[in-house]
Amino acid sequence: MAKPSVYVTREINKEALAVLADTCEVTFWPGPDPVPRSELLKNIAHKDALLCMLTDKIDAEVLQCAKQLKVIATMSVGYDHLDLKEIKKHEIKVGYTPGILTHATAELTVALLLATSRRLFEANAAARNGGWQAWSPFWMTGPGLEGATVGIAGFGRIGQEVAKRLIPFQIKKLIYFNRSQKPEAESTMGAVRVTFDELLQQSDFLVVCCALTSDTVGMFDKAAFHKMKKTAIFVNTSRGGLVDQDELVKALQEERIAGAGLDVMTPEPLPLDHPLFKLKNCVIMPHIASAAVQTRAGMAMLSVENIVAGLKGEKMPSELTLD
Ligand code: DGY
Repeated sequence: MAKPSVYVTREINKEALAVLADTCEVTFWPGPDPVPRSELLKNIAHKDALLCMLTDKIDAEVLQCAKQLKVIATMSVGYDHLDLKEIKKHEIKVGYTPGILTHATAELTVALLLATSRRLFEANAAARNGGWQAWSPFWMTGPGLEGATVGIAGFGRIGQEVAKRLIPFQIKKLIYFNRSQKPEAESTMGAVRVTFDELLQQSDFLVVCCALTSDTVGMFDKAAFHKMKKTAIFVNTSRGGLVDQDELVKALQEERIAGAGLDVMTPEPLPLDHPLFKLKNCVIMPHIASAAVQTRAGMAMLSVENIVAGLKGEKMPSELTLD
């Protein structure tokens, strides 16, 4: 019997490809860049499964070309690039990679928060370009975490791991905004659930960890930035679409908030002439929160396992419930 066919939209690690090739006929888009749309549409035509990235928009047009597709596995925890309504219509199973990237993402979130608040890139540039004249009492100062109120928007797996890593910095209070209450985190971490307005008004450090959905898109808008403290540090490692980016630019330019650390933005990559790149109080990372070596290898392997199980008609190790 012929092996089922899989299209992989990026070259992934050899170990994961080998597992896939054991049971499937594999074609992949070579190289580090996203597959061009025309290639994706052409290559998906007679495939049984698709292993894609968060850079691939899987919508009605793709599904129209993918008459044979039974399984999609995205190598990401976020799935806002998948049109789930359309996918459900075609009765295609979807796998994703939650859990495996939680620690790496939490780690990078803390690094970005500290790099932003303590102005690491600005200070490093000053040291290299002659801006460092002598030790100076109030030069390059930024807010410390000790005694601060940390607010987390989206208190799921990643949000809670970020909180766990920030508590040892002797913060004063941990508050969170989330659809549902998290009683266990409240008792183990002393986290307090608050309204969105309270989160904005009270946070010295506001960390965004929520998924991008139709409910959360643009939730950090003009009104939100106006409610935040002038001294607040805003950190986003989730999705750029959660933020009205023009309003964030204004808030930073007018120093209505103290700084922003962004691993995600709109669009990605951010154009080099974008105003965010001109701001000293903004630290920008190229969407690398989960980019720990072992995490990315694990994400690739989990994606492969999702495909293999899905094609056998078995339950995927990480299957998305389509409701
Ligand atoms: C994801 O998996 O959705 C992350 O954004 C990748 O870092």
